[in-house]
Amino acid sequence: MAHLRWWQRATFYQIYPRSFADGNGDGIGDFVGMLAKLDYLQSLGVDALWLSPHFPSPNADMGYDVSDYTGVAPEYGTLDDFRRFLDGAHARGMRVLLDLVLNHTSEQHPWFVESRSSRDNPKRDWYVWRDPAPDGGPPNNWNSAFGGSAWEFDPPTGQYYYHFFFKQQPDLNWRNPEVKQAMWQAVRFWLDMGVDGFRLDAIGTIFEDPAYPNHTSKLSQIEMLRAWRENRSPEEQQALMAEFMDMFKHQFGRPEVHDLMKELRALLDEYPGDRVLIGEDDDVAYYGNGDDELHLVFNFPLMRTNRLTPAWVRANQAERLSKLPPGAWPCNTLGNHDSTRLWSAFGDGQHDAEIARVNAALLLTLRGTPVLYNGEEIGMTDLLLERFDQLRDNQAINLYHFAVGEGISPDEAMRMAARMTRDRCRTPMQWANAPNAGFSPPGVQTWLPVNPNYAQGVNVADQDGDPNSMLNFYRRLLALRKRTPALMAGDYVPVNEEAQDYLAFLRRDEDSGQICLVVLNMSAQFREARFTLPWPSARCLFSSHGHEGETAHLSALRLAPFEIFIGELTHGRA
Ligand code: GLC
Ligand code: CA
Repeated sequence: MAHLRWWQRATFYQIYPRSFADGNGDGIGDFVGMLAKLDYLQSLGVDALWLSPHFPSPNADMGYDVSDYTGVAPEYGTLDDFRRFLDGAHARGMRVLLDLVLNHTSEQHPWFVESRSSRDNPKRDWYVWRDPAPDGGPPNNWNSAFGGSAWEFDPPTGQYYYHFFFKQQPDLNWRNPEVKQAMWQAVRFWLDMGVDGFRLDAIGTIFEDPAYPNHTSKLSQIEMLRAWRENRSPEEQQALMAEFMDMFKHQFGRPEVHDLMKELRALLDEYPGDRVLIGEDDDVAYYGNGDDELHLVFNFPLMRTNRLTPAWVRANQAERLSKLPPGAWPCNTLGNHDSTRLWSAFGDGQHDAEIARVNAALLLTLRGTPVLYNGEEIGMTDLLLERFDQLRDNQAINLYHFAVGEGISPDEAMRMAARMTRDRCRTPMQWANAPNAGFSPPGVQTWLPVNPNYAQGVNVADQDGDPNSMLNFYRRLLALRKRTPALMAGDYVPVNEEAQDYLAFLRRDEDSGQICLVVLNMSAQFREARFTLPWPSARCLFSSHGHEGETAHLSALRLAPFEIFIGELTHGRA
């Protein structure tokens, strides 16, 4: 384990700044609030904090439309507040990663304001401008991933600009070396300050096919939008994903991205302290040769289902681990600010609490760096918004208008929007059983409604002292992971692969000689797991059913419904 780098040992925790803690009582999270919660994060046992964008932004995409890459949004505080937060995290042994949005800026970024001002402005070529098609329409039939055409007409100069996401997010032209220089300067600004790395937003979309060919997909916009966040069966989701990918095939995944990532990696490597890059993409190709592009690439395929079954996890691990280049380190996650919350995503409606625990145990025992999403550790759930005026996510607002335009009733359109909106997982963190869940002072209107289930125990204060709470379950698992070399460093060896109801695997660490057996009963049934391993018994290190310290006989391991068993087979070198 000694050879592992900090980001291989670490558990990462995503903070959504807008919803974490409101320090000045205006209903919006901020750095003063985040600073005050650092002790909590330390007590949880996480090692690195990734912040969703904290930069100045008109918030057409909640911070993912950046208007100043080296600033702090005024609602989140000042650069000094940021520095205090960074120092506070470092003082507690936690690292800080920022969100780096390379593909696009805000339409209000001074670069774009200049670029659109005239055809011969020196920054014209910093973005992707094209003449209209002969009929005056958009240059081609490409879509925006968020709905509608990917091209927006700009009357003053008579050209269209390209945007993969919202029209308020014009794509930068990364083929222009000045763009790169300007962005690398911003990257250095934060690295010089001591930031430990970046989560890279939407890297796949940085380059487009330079020939701009039309796509030939038949997938309709409404179908695409509906499918985007709905709960569908894994098969349906996969089929749609394939069609979706086909529709966008000229707009992402270009080979040019790899050269750019290599350049960024080389820039980071100039700095001391082992700074790290995590990529928002499925594609293991962004690991490069295993040591020359990104350090970590999210294993998103794992979470692309509505039920994490043993078969699903085995297939995912078999595929993912075999595809990694030598030396590459996996990175697993089960939720973020764009997805259904872990609790709501994989439950069966009857045993959601048990399933959430089994899935958390999965995330924290698989091989690779786990990334948690704030609130998951107290079992926060999605909130289904009821009224149109509560929506903040423009994706859902656009979907609503589009659906109504297609003749769908406003009520039905609202239900669709509520199901798909990313707002549902972005509601304020629930700190206490108090008005506004302790996120903001009483009487303040928070930027998104607080989930009322804070009053039913889904809050930090109530769970803090309860040994059986979700929070203390996460704390126990995180502490176990930290002191158990096999769980941190070990390889992954599936066993009893024919079992339908439970997942079992070994984690074997060569250095320490430690081998652990993880058994997760993913069903509501009592089961007996029979192992034929070279070791007849295991010492239980972690149990959801109070068996810690006991010796378990592996010829017939009794499992209660949703039981979690982590046992040690060997300890130290034989
Ligand atoms: C990423 C972000 C998402 C954002 C998009 C455009 O997918 O996670 O929130 O809307 O990029 O920046
Ligand atoms: Ca605030």
